Amino acid sequence: MKTLILNTLGEEVLNQVNTLIKDKEVEVVDTSDMMIVNCMGCNQCWLKTPGICDIKDDYEKIIKELVETENLWIVSDTRFGFLDYKGKRVMDRIVPMLNMTVGFRDGWMRHEPRYHALNIGLLYKGTADQAMMEDWCKRTAANIGGQSLGAIALAPKSVITSEVGKSPVLPGPIKHLVIINGSPRVAKFSNTDKIIHSFVKGLEETGTTWELHNLSNRKEWDAAREAFTSHEHILIAFPLYVECIPGLMSEFLETLPTERKLPGQLCFLLHGGMDEGNEFRFCERILQRLPARLGCGYCGTLIRGGSFCIRTREDALKAKIVAPYEEMGRLFAQRGNFLTPEAKKFTGPEQYPWWVRKMVSLLFLKKVNRGFEDFAKSWGCTRPLDDQPYICRIKED
Ligand SMILES: Cc1cc2nc3c(=O)[nH]c(=O)nc-3n(C[C@H](O)[C@H](O)[C@H](O)COP(=O)(O)O)c2cc1C
Repeated sequence: MKTLILNTLGEEVLNQVNTLIKDKEVEVVDTSDMMIVNCMGCNQCWLKTPGICDIKDDYEKIIKELVETENLWIVSDTRFGFLDYKGKRVMDRIVPMLNMTVGFRDGWMRHEPRYHALNIGLLYKGTADQAMMEDWCKRTAANIGGQSLGAIALAPKSVITSEVGKSPVLPGPIKHLVIINGSPRVAKFSNTDKIIHSFVKGLEETGTTWELHNLSNRKEWDAAREAFTSHEHILIAFPLYVECIPGLMSEFLETLPTERKLPGQLCFLLHGGMDEGNEFRFCERILQRLPARLGCGYCGTLIRGGSFCIRTREDALKAKIVAPYEEMGRLFAQRGNFLTPEAKKFTGPEQYPWWVRKMVSLLFLKKVNRGFEDFAKSWGCTRPLDDQPYICRIKED
């Protein structure tokens, strides 16, 4: 059994890491001086060249190692109560280890592992909540069919800062909203962009003005930072990536100045591929604590799943899927927050009841997965979606 340690912190923690992880066959990869960029959500590794990432950087070596790995440890610093962007981007790039196709596992809709299950653990530095880090390991490992190896704080021991930021005196009708699209995918193809454009129709109905900054384009970061610090109402809309904030967005947040020109009220619009509300709860807990760490008040998070398919649909169907966000925009313009019963209801079920899962399994899953195959063909994919492009020497029981 091979254990792989991806060390984003380099030499400074090597002795501690070697003392803590004493498995028989261990390989430590120091990613601190490797060329690894953020996942850009292009989906080529699922739908065009299954299992092969389109980004040609040092991560391909890591994927080849992962194919032979059963226990994966991530060594990372933490910021804002979660992995810093260097740790998160290493995790986000793990997606080629999963297939596009979905099925129910342990009662939850999940992607199938491409090669085998992977157990995941975290060695973290800095201020983060131990229980939350453990929860993230459990969720992430379950997504790839494995078990959590646990979360271990590296010395000096982490300070626990888990309080939810105090909600501000809720703002009521708002005049102007700064919107930041935190998706790494270029705006033209971003589902978040389509959601935002439906949401702002609702804002416009009430006369609220808005401006939009896309983090997928680094040239917009200066303007986004300026808007973030100099306006009162800010909405960050983004897709869930490996149970939390995309690495690219974490990187942007880490560059924000600590001084604000105006007091800020921050809210979030969080969406993702999977349908059920529970999928988003870990990230929501991080978001509840984030505004206080950025010197802002928290005005709630609007959550909804099922967005993966927006991109793959015909225009008319795309418009239908994002239409409900318009009403949410209208309500938000009037109330200035998502801490409302309407916003709570908008998420939908926390988990499908058993009979829905059964029905979906029997009647729809094959159709859904065949739909992915057809879509892949339209992208020129010539391989099966569960292709295993790298050699795997691990046999599952
Ligand atoms: C690296 C990566 C990780 C993802 N992780 C999750 C996840 O944990 N849960 C989920 O529901 N969707 C996940 N998704 C799906 C995206 O949230 C979804 O496709 C979203 O609609 C993308 O929005 P965008 O086009 O604006 O980037 C992931 C996508 C990528 C590329």
